[in-house]
Amino acid sequence: MSRLVVVSNRVPVPDKSNKAPAGGLAVALRAALEEKGGIWMGWSGKSSGEEETGELTSIQDGKITYALTDLTDRDVDEYYHGFANRVLWPTFHYRLDLTDYARKEMTGYFRVNRFFAERLVPLLKPDDTIWIQDYHLIPLAKELRQMGVKNRIGFFLHIPLPPADVLFAMPVYETLIESLAHYDLVGFQTDFDHANFVGALVREGIGEALSGGKIKSHNRIFKAGYYPIGIETAAFATYARRAIKNGMVKRAAQSLEGKALVIGVDRLDYSKGLTQRLDAYEHFITANPDYQGKVTYLQITPKSRSEVPEYEAMQRTVAEQAGRVNGELGTVDWVPIRYMTRSVARPVLAGLYRMAKVGLVTPLRDGMNLVAKEYIAAQDPDDPGVLVLSRFAGAAREMKGALLVNPYDTEGTSNAIAKALAMPLAERQQRWQQMMDHLLVHDVNHWCDTFLQDLMQMPGYQAAEAA
Ligand code: ADP
Ligand code: G6P
Repeated sequence: MSRLVVVSNRVPVPDKSNKAPAGGLAVALRAALEEKGGIWMGWSGKSSGEEETGELTSIQDGKITYALTDLTDRDVDEYYHGFANRVLWPTFHYRLDLTDYARKEMTGYFRVNRFFAERLVPLLKPDDTIWIQDYHLIPLAKELRQMGVKNRIGFFLHIPLPPADVLFAMPVYETLIESLAHYDLVGFQTDFDHANFVGALVREGIGEALSGGKIKSHNRIFKAGYYPIGIETAAFATYARRAIKNGMVKRAAQSLEGKALVIGVDRLDYSKGLTQRLDAYEHFITANPDYQGKVTYLQITPKSRSEVPEYEAMQRTVAEQAGRVNGELGTVDWVPIRYMTRSVARPVLAGLYRMAKVGLVTPLRDGMNLVAKEYIAAQDPDDPGVLVLSRFAGAAREMKGALLVNPYDTEGTSNAIAKALAMPLAERQQRWQQMMDHLLVHDVNHWCDTFLQDLMQMPGYQAAEAA
């Protein structure tokens, strides 16, 4: 097997805090790379001010060599806060109402992709397999090709890909689609995302679907497919089993005093449906007064992308909403919602999931949603909790034992919470077992291996060029 070189914007730079990086990409890839080893190049998360940084910083951690670059203030602004998070993220999550397109930021996005390519090329050996991650770096393969890189290059999109009518609202969509044709394999989370991609190419008359998942487009033949990302299922289950010994988990258990725990864990992001979820919980308590004082909803929501105005506004809205519900429904000895905006270590998270009778995962749109999978992996087989899952999360394509909800339907989600809390043990066990069996096979290594196997089967750049 050739050496693996992974490139992503966000890299879980090793530090001493032992805090999990909040974000599916970093969590999943670290789990996959820890086993396989290789180079992981990306942004250090730091700014170099006005001057472009020269050298990459290299950090060795187990089998992984991190190669990190700083970005200038302008790059962070235009590429990360700007085009990636104010155009690509909202558009790909079907939120054209939140998309703020600026040509200057688009130029910054392409400039930073070229900068990444320039930094990456000196690290490469001819038989390296390159795997580029997510929406920040769509044009990277094209930049690398222009610099003469002939290696196999794969791309995985961690977020959804919307249908043509939404995608085409983005002024630069032709360039981005053309950029994808420079990869050998383009992977999506679900069959829906994959179908949206092929559908958009065919509808625009710029691509033709061939047999075996191959696509002919822009004078190239490449493959596209779907590879649902997984978690380290067995390891996470072990964390959860042992978590009861953890001091913080013990304190949490004592503080619940026999109340049923409902848990939500999400980055503070408008795609996660937090306001709708709080509405549904409020509705549930109001419609089921017997549960007053008998249930606690813990929402752990680390702040994310705070420099982006839509995120900053959201932080206020959600905090105010949680405060209002607590004010209106709380009593002298009961707080209906516990709201935390910081990250917790993974073993603690595992323990909290295990304690929760209900896992509330209700994004308005999500590429996959690893929290849904972690919640199931953490359960006690003798007394498992119930997953309430949005039908608009990629995970809903796989997690057939969940109670699927439409997060826009307050009453429907509220009913699902009530159903989950009242579900008999035998049904809970049967639903949980079905999902756990699936997750044990379709774990993060399975995701990584199936993607890389398909990539290795591609003939390589030159040979793949269409006649
Ligand atoms: P996204 O990638 O959009 O953030 P996912 O649900 O796919 O959503 O992945 C989120 C990851 O971040 C999960 O692995 C989850 O455990 C982790 N995470 C989210 N919130 C926290 C938190 N407060 N503390 C620690 N880890 C968190
Ligand atoms: C999602 C994206 C990742 C991103 C993560 C955290 O999982 O798919 O690419 O890293 O959110 O967001 P951030 O902007 O902090 O990297």
